[in-house]
Amino acid sequence: MSTKNNNRRQFLQHSALGLATAAFPGLLLANKGQIRSNPTREFNPDIEIEMTARKGYIPILKKGPTTQVQKYYAKLLKGPKETLQHLKGNYLGPILNYEKGQKVRIYFNNSLSEPSIIHWHGLHVPQKSDGHPMYSIPPGERFVYEFEVMNRAGTSFYHSHTHELTAEQVYQGLAGLITVTDEEEKKLDLPRGEYDLPLVIQDRTFNDRNQLRYLHGMHGRMSGFLGDTILVNGKPDVEFSVKSSAYRFRALNGSNSRIYKLGWEDGTPLTAIGTDGGLLEKPETRPYIMLAPGERVDLWLDFSDRPVGSKLVMYSLPYTGAMPPMYERMQNRKGNSGRSEGGMRGGMMGGRMGGMGGGMGMMGGGLAQGAKFPIATFKVTEKVSDSPKLPSRLVKFDRLTERDVDNANKPLPIAISMKPMAPRLNGKSFSLEKVLDFERVPVGSIKKIKIFHEHGMGMMGGGMGGGMMMSMAHPIHLHGQQYQIISRKMEGMRKDEYATVKDGFIDSGWKDTVLVMPGEEIEIIKPFQDFKGFFLYHCHNLEHEDLGMMRQFYVY
Ligand code: C2O
Ligand code: CU
Repeated sequence: MSTKNNNRRQFLQHSALGLATAAFPGLLLANKGQIRSNPTREFNPDIEIEMTARKGYIPILKKGPTTQVQKYYAKLLKGPKETLQHLKGNYLGPILNYEKGQKVRIYFNNSLSEPSIIHWHGLHVPQKSDGHPMYSIPPGERFVYEFEVMNRAGTSFYHSHTHELTAEQVYQGLAGLITVTDEEEKKLDLPRGEYDLPLVIQDRTFNDRNQLRYLHGMHGRMSGFLGDTILVNGKPDVEFSVKSSAYRFRALNGSNSRIYKLGWEDGTPLTAIGTDGGLLEKPETRPYIMLAPGERVDLWLDFSDRPVGSKLVMYSLPYTGAMPPMYERMQNRKGNSGRSEGGMRGGMMGGRMGGMGGGMGMMGGGLAQGAKFPIATFKVTEKVSDSPKLPSRLVKFDRLTERDVDNANKPLPIAISMKPMAPRLNGKSFSLEKVLDFERVPVGSIKKIKIFHEHGMGMMGGGMGGGMMMSMAHPIHLHGQQYQIISRKMEGMRKDEYATVKDGFIDSGWKDTVLVMPGEEIEIIKPFQDFKGFFLYHCHNLEHEDLGMMRQFYVY
């Protein structure tokens, strides 16, 4: 690009900033790195944590050298000691165990060699403590978060949210799990303590020196990173020794772009007791459960009828339709779905599924999106005499309907589009300064929002247009308060493929991330209460997010 163009671009950027100054003075400060982020005197925390992001060396693979990662290290300065649950020898940050109503202050130190910031994915917190990328701090600086835990009992997620570096920083390890408990949950007889376990699922690719390999080039970013090694709670080939009892496994898909179809190898159905926003009104049992990046599901896994010595393998079962048709045709030609199991190295659960590296750059690591592979093994090692029974009702649930919203006939749009190399929302890329008219939402309002594929509109009668060819599944995440899904319509032409995933969506709970399949139109209801400011919405395929598939609501 010529200097002249450069100047012009800079000029445009500056004038955009200039405009924004009037409306959003806070942003300008943020852009200049002049955030004053100090503890406030009026805030009286129950919990204080010092959290540092820095480079670490962790033994991830069983043999050979340790792996260089980026990791959250944490120290509890104040509060109940269960608040921090360290995972030894793990790249994942500690599990943060909160109770509803607690006031939390976190000192975040950036000891990386690049900017960073943490987002508490799922928690309903003020803008300033939400980890908006405008608050990214340079190396050596500190950011102070202060918030009250307002969420219902459930499972959330924290991770880096540094603009254009989110995908790589999360990939390098900057992520962890959050649990929240409350009075309502404590009254239930749910599995606790050793029977309440994390199931963080991620995929990675390692080189022959055990170092993490991330993707290069645009093609890989358009489909998203797909690794060839499945890690559970930061380790490959995971086998859980379980007792003959019911367990609560808090599953989180912490992968950059891989979508899992969780199911038992022997066809036993799966039961969920919670989704992103916490416990469900009542358990839901499905043949399999879809889990897209950013989504959580609390699983009720009952081993009480299983004899000691028995083994169960949880799989990601095969499915189609999440990727553009061209990608899937290439996969079929390679006979990939059959080979993913056969090609594994290192025994039954051999983490690495060797072999089928892609001819198309889009295939990333080589284990296709939608391939079948094992996730973890559960081995019953001890008989115990009692076990909690699955409650038929869990918690009280306030169901939102169109009567609660002020825009039933004029839903706010979230239009997904996929121009070559430019995945977008509402036709625009991310911009710190500019907010569209309909992205301004008065605080306290409850809105209906319609998420859809833009090219689905004019293309219905006309066959596969260019947009349709690029069509793929996108997990759409909204910051701030949790929402409810009120309808899901499939308007596209890929019905057979849709049939391989459609029974796995749990739409009855509170959500913050929803998987939108090609051809799908999903309506949600979202409250914008309590806090003013900028709240992001974006694709949680982290490569898409970094490509600019992110916008924000301005709550005023
Ligand atoms: Cu989990 Cu805006 O992110
Ligand atoms: Cu996307």
